[in-house]
Amino acid sequence: MSLFVKKPINILIAEADDSEKGLKRTLGAGNLIALGIGAIIGAGLFVRTAAAAANHAGPSVTIGFIVAAVGCAFAGLCYAEFASMIPVAGSAYTYSYATMGEFIAWIIGWDLILEYGVGAATVGIAWSEYLNRLLELFGTKIPYQWYHSPFEVDPVTSVHGIMNLPALFIVLMLTLVLIRGTKGSASLNSIIVIVKVAIVMIFIAIGWSYIRPENHTPFIPEPTTYTNTQGITTHFGGIMGILGAAGVVFFAFIGFDAVSTAAQEAKNPKRDMPIGILGSLAICTVLYILFSYVLTGVASTEDFRTQGREASVAYAIDHMSGHMVNGAWIPQFKWLSSLITVAILAGFSSVILVMLLGQSRVFYSMSRDGLLPRNFSDVHPVHRTPYKANWIIFIICGIFAAFVPGDVVGEMTSIGTLFAFILVCAGVWIMRVKHPEVPRGFKTPFVPVTATLGILVCAAMIFGLGWTNWARLLIWLVIGLVIYFGYSKKRSLLQQGNVVTTKDPVDTLNK
Ligand code: ALA
Repeated sequence: MSLFVKKPINILIAEADDSEKGLKRTLGAGNLIALGIGAIIGAGLFVRTAAAAANHAGPSVTIGFIVAAVGCAFAGLCYAEFASMIPVAGSAYTYSYATMGEFIAWIIGWDLILEYGVGAATVGIAWSEYLNRLLELFGTKIPYQWYHSPFEVDPVTSVHGIMNLPALFIVLMLTLVLIRGTKGSASLNSIIVIVKVAIVMIFIAIGWSYIRPENHTPFIPEPTTYTNTQGITTHFGGIMGILGAAGVVFFAFIGFDAVSTAAQEAKNPKRDMPIGILGSLAICTVLYILFSYVLTGVASTEDFRTQGREASVAYAIDHMSGHMVNGAWIPQFKWLSSLITVAILAGFSSVILVMLLGQSRVFYSMSRDGLLPRNFSDVHPVHRTPYKANWIIFIICGIFAAFVPGDVVGEMTSIGTLFAFILVCAGVWIMRVKHPEVPRGFKTPFVPVTATLGILVCAAMIFGLGWTNWARLLIWLVIGLVIYFGYSKKRSLLQQGNVVTTKDPVDTLNK
């Protein structure tokens, strides 16, 4: 059969109807926005912003946030149309199987491992930075080599990293939570969302009056290059710097598409999904622009390259105001940096959980379609969760978390997701041409202009991420192609003329 064999939409809807029996429709637009914000605000804001300022754009990382938000808005509009048209639990993988055929669906599914699996590793590494910060408050510290990858060296002591144990630990803990099931965690998620939004707003409100104009001058640095401590050289300043920064902080927006995976639990998916997706995106965009403006105003680019490289927000708060006592710096807002450190640790955990959950859903769907081994969709006899998939995801995610630097996994997540978004934008356009008759609860305005702009802005960010990241994406895709042609294509149920309509028993965060 053809590489482009498509899963019929009526089968998808039937699967959705079938699994609907197991999932209650309880979520309104407000819940969906909360779900989105819970998945969105995390390491992208609290760790990658400073990295983007240090490596790419200085204070103009704020403009990078605007570029990333524009790309996400176009892609988000396209996601919303898909989500309202095919209201099944799933993601870009499921949508593309129906619209662009198996081969593209495989590429997207494979790519989503970068978004969810490698993304979870990135947040795990960020968690490890803030855990260390917390331990410092209690006068202790994890030795450098045990919370850094083998590719990192302490610039002061020249100690080499061995593995990132805390990152591995948090991924393991949350894997266990997922295997046990996350029923009843919706209220905990809501509390974490409120805490996250509150700390961002408090930081903006307090930090605003400590902005030093010299840190914002020049706002867009002259174009040059910068070589970081791992020996990676990037464009710094100018337009390329802004595009690079946009690609890096794009990570901070990842997760709004997680709203689309809850389509089956939405009371009124046709109306509420677009509101959930675009609403959470809009709120985060405003917060991010203000936050990055304040962060780069209270500390300098040089700070983010040196002492403020890790746990950057806590560092910035401690250094924005204080006084010297007997030669020691006493921060004025120690209470705030301590509070934020604890809140960030909790906030990161919820992001990791959503990402691991998203990954298990993708693996589950791909396995059910025959593209991955069947036991990936085995369901735990007691907890009714796809526990084998969860363990495999733990191994993949754990390797990245323990042995790869945060910058590398963060940028791999960004580039992989950007690529998937490009395919989603193209998919909406293709569907409009090929299947205009399928009812759509929400229609993306101005297609194909919106889809084209989404593709162009996402491609510009990929361009800004530079050749090392293009090479990593290419290698990842080649590995994916080898697996597809070596394994998946032969075992695809659709290729064999079968389709499955089994009930989807995967647990979710929102029951
Ligand atoms: N957007 C999520 C974060 O920043 C992935 O952690």
